[in-house]
Amino acid sequence: MAKKPATKPASAPTPKAAPVADSGPGANLQRPAAEVLYAAELDKLAERDKAQPKPKGWKLTPRSVLSFVLGDEDMGLAPKFVGSRAFLERAIVALATNRGLMLIGEPGTAKSYLSELLAAGISGDSTLTVQGSAGTTEDNIKYSWNYALLLAEGPSERSLVPAPVYRGMREGKIVRFEEITRCPIEIQDTLLSVLSDRVLAIPELDGPERSLFAQAGFNVIATANTRDRGVNDMSAALKRRFNFETVQPIGSIEDEMALVTREAGKMLARAAIPVSLQADVVEVLVTTFHELRHGKTGDGKALEPLSTAMSTAEAVSCAYAAGIHAYYYGGGDVEPAHLVQHLVGTALKDAPDDVKKLSGYFNHVMKGRKRGAWPAYYEARKHLP
Ligand SMILES: Nc1ncnc2c1ncn2[C@@H]1O[C@H](COP(=O)(O)OP(=O)(O)OP(=O)(O)O)[C@@H](O)[C@H]1O
Ligand SMILES: [Mg+2]
Repeated sequence: MAKKPATKPASAPTPKAAPVADSGPGANLQRPAAEVLYAAELDKLAERDKAQPKPKGWKLTPRSVLSFVLGDEDMGLAPKFVGSRAFLERAIVALATNRGLMLIGEPGTAKSYLSELLAAGISGDSTLTVQGSAGTTEDNIKYSWNYALLLAEGPSERSLVPAPVYRGMREGKIVRFEEITRCPIEIQDTLLSVLSDRVLAIPELDGPERSLFAQAGFNVIATANTRDRGVNDMSAALKRRFNFETVQPIGSIEDEMALVTREAGKMLARAAIPVSLQADVVEVLVTTFHELRHGKTGDGKALEPLSTAMSTAEAVSCAYAAGIHAYYYGGGDVEPAHLVQHLVGTALKDAPDDVKKLSGYFNHVMKGRKRGAWPAYYEARKHLP
């Protein structure tokens, strides 16, 4: 924990000069796609896999996809997704079969991130993505028309505007379908023939162009959140065409601390913000999220869980926000008070009871903790509403 006075001078200290942001791939993008960010890793793996047998249409062998997703120190591959190897092997194998992969789980367990990494590793392209919502239409999934060309020339391949599934089938790539259960069932069912017969009918065209047969390499990774509308909102027929895998939240506090330090550190580095996230500060943050998520403290005392998910993804965002706060309004080190201020916006959304539960957690659980950053964190409860 930083050795700093607890109270800060009224005038904010001048922030340290920001270093030049990472000048690597996509340096000016807010969030480059995985295949851009990790282009060098993918090239290295592709080179190694040149003569290796791989599923048809795949850029890498299943073994390399696994190394890419999990990271491999010896090969210089950055750690990315934290999860069990057995789970990932099953997920990767599912994508080489005739069924799609459905990733289900609690919010913020990296379902989307994992599907992006898998698509980048297998197809070298994670951008063929349909975002499911109540307003998703078949056009957003399959194809639509350029109406000016349609009127001028009639339906033709030239006037057809391909959507992700059309492109994935034509190019033999993985298509990501985010939050599929938020779409109406009849829209989800657009995927039935695509997944079983691997063919897309285009009735407006004539001759052989009426059917688009999928190239090898095409498959679908769908994600669904078990807290929003669940997989009950899916037809049995579509469920049969997917292999279901549950993405579990990170089990150990140590692993979650390492992940939050790494991910928030990466985001701060990209934003050229040179603040340090000390281990004891990360510990209080991650422990808070972990305990409130599971509804019990590390030593087994029951807590009233909040109505919000308190996911790992939110813990990362909270650490990132605290880092920005510390840089622009503080002295450059993330203090427990910065964490509490950003914890409020994450933990307290619209349920009035949650304010009481969070205050109860600070007053009853945290009060007794005397180690590391806990006392300063407890003092910072004045920032709670
Ligand atoms: N097991 C994990 N491995 C790596 N990163 C993780 C893990 N769990 C959470 N994260 C963090 O969460 C972020 C990704 O969250 P993502 O949006 O993919 O979750 P999600 O499960 O799709 O959430 P939602 O249900 O809200 O869509 C990652 O960028 C990372 O910072
Ligand atoms: Mg998601």
